[in-house]
Amino acid sequence: MIDSSIIAIDGFASTGKSTLAKMLAKHYNYGYVDSGAMYRGITYAALQNHWITSDGLDEAKLFEGLKSLNLNFEPLTNSLLLNDINISKEIRTLEVSNNVSKIATLPVVRDFLVKQQREMGKRKKIVMDGRDIGTVVFPDASHKFFFTAPPEVRAKRRWEELKLSDPTVDFNSVLENLIQRDAMDSQRKVAPLKIAENAIEIDVSDLSVAEVFALLLKKIES
Ligand code: DC
Repeated sequence: MIDSSIIAIDGFASTGKSTLAKMLAKHYNYGYVDSGAMYRGITYAALQNHWITSDGLDEAKLFEGLKSLNLNFEPLTNSLLLNDINISKEIRTLEVSNNVSKIATLPVVRDFLVKQQREMGKRKKIVMDGRDIGTVVFPDASHKFFFTAPPEVRAKRRWEELKLSDPTVDFNSVLENLIQRDAMDSQRKVAPLKIAENAIEIDVSDLSVAEVFALLLKKIES
C-alpha cells in the first residue's frame, strides 16, 4: 500500500499511459485525471467556435473564449464535460488530434490548465497522465513514470483503436500525426515533453498491459 500521494505518468502519445493510469487509480482507489483530454477539450472548443479556421488560429478569440470554458471530469465514468456537455467521444477525432499540439504550445492555455490540474491534486491520492506532470504540474510527485516506444508501434495501437469507430482511417495519416505531435510536444518552448528528474523510464514496446501494470506496482511498492 502507498500513502496518500500523487502518481505522475508522462510519455509519448499512444504508449498506454491512460490505460495504465486508470488501472493504478482503480487498484489504489485514487482519482484519475487525463490531462491530455483537457488539452483536447480546449482544442475541440476552438474548432467548434471557429477560433481555428483554415487560415489558422485566432489567438485573440481563443484567449477571450477561454473565460467561458468550464472543463470538468466525471470521475465515476472518466468523462470530460465541457460546460456540462459530455465531449469524451468528440475529443478523440483525428481533427482534434491534428490541432491539439498547436493549442498545447500556447502559454495562456497551459497556465489555464496547469492551475486546474494543481487544484485537482490538492486532495492528493490521484494518478495523472500527460506530458509535463512530473516536470511542471507536480515536480514533487511521489512516483513518476515516463513511457516510450517507437512511433510505428504507437501508430499501430492508435490506428487499431480508431478503426473501431471509423474503418476508413488510414494508417499513414495516424503515423504522420504521431510523428508531428512528437516533434511539436518535444520541441515547444513551454513545458516540452521530456523525462522528469527521478522518473522511471519504461519502454512499453514489448510489454503487455498486464506486464506494464505489474512493473508499475513493483516500482511503487518497492
Ligand atoms: O495524451 P493525449 O495524446 O491525449 O494528449 C493530447 C495532446 O495534448 C498532446 O499532443 C500534447 C498535449 N498535452 C500536453 O501538452 N500536456 C499534457 N500534460 C497532456 C497533453
